[in-house]
Amino acid sequence: MEGLAIIDASTRVLCLIGKPVRHSLSPVMHNAAIRALNLNFVYVAFEVEPQDLGKAVEGIRSLGIGGANVTMPHKIEVVKYLDEVSEDARKIGAVNTIVNEGGTLKGYNTDGVGALKSLEMFTDVDGKKVVLLGAGGAARAIAYTLSGRVSELAILNRTEEKAVNLARNLANNGSTVRGMRLSVRNLENELRDADILINATSVGMESNESLVPEHLLRPGLVVFDIVYRPLHTKLLRDAMKAGCTTIDGLWMLVLQGAESFKLWTGHYPDIRIMRNAALKALGVEENEGKG
Ligand code: ATR
Repeated sequence: MEGLAIIDASTRVLCLIGKPVRHSLSPVMHNAAIRALNLNFVYVAFEVEPQDLGKAVEGIRSLGIGGANVTMPHKIEVVKYLDEVSEDARKIGAVNTIVNEGGTLKGYNTDGVGALKSLEMFTDVDGKKVVLLGAGGAARAIAYTLSGRVSELAILNRTEEKAVNLARNLANNGSTVRGMRLSVRNLENELRDADILINATSVGMESNESLVPEHLLRPGLVVFDIVYRPLHTKLLRDAMKAGCTTIDGLWMLVLQGAESFKLWTGHYPDIRIMRNAALKALGVEENEGKG
């Protein structure tokens, strides 16, 4: 059995807690990185009901689980069970990573850094204008991380109030941040002089929908979709046709995971190995997944 890690009495356990978790790509991705570095860790997924979250976190502590990822629907609620929360996670209001330091549980949020690093693999972000669709948990992490780096951030959300509140919370961070309703007119106005468009909503996930009319996409625009099922969403396919640079959501999954992996193990993993493992689990051929 090539590549199968030996699990012994000193193996440290890492895990994912969420619901559902059965289709998560995190276990294959992290175990591939663990094997490549020959570390004595294993990563498993636990499906945890909302009413059991406190007990699950106690379990991490009492079983000496080395670290965890936290996903839907627990990212916000988990904060109250932790001993410490990083400044980023506190400002974002959500935790996606727990590190168990000798019984002290510390919460972090690597989603924003994962998104920033995904962008930086394809483009510069400093001084750019970004149009961000969404104001939910993922969008909040991205907005927080980008504000202060970009010159202008326009946040467009179906529920206008959430976009306006998010923008207000990010004021004085160094960038011009504005929140508004997601409408074709606002999209048209904001995309005219934008450098980067990010879809941080769930629209396009397992569907053939896009929030952006095709005619608003043009060469020179970088289009990043955080949705990765399918890998090439309608938005990304339209963007490719229009000659945009495109970034798929698997980059964010891999790069947020790599940050968490570093926090747990002290090693920055091989992101190509993580991405290939995730692509294989998604059933996508390597050459389909480039860029
Ligand atoms: P996540 O943690 O993945 O970001 P979330 O917090 O539930 O999930 O946020 C989902 C985002 O997708 C929100 O910005 C949501 O818009 P609302 O705030 O108006 O709910 C957005 N979204 C979901 N379905 C949408 C749709 N059909 N059209 C437009 N936006 C949608």
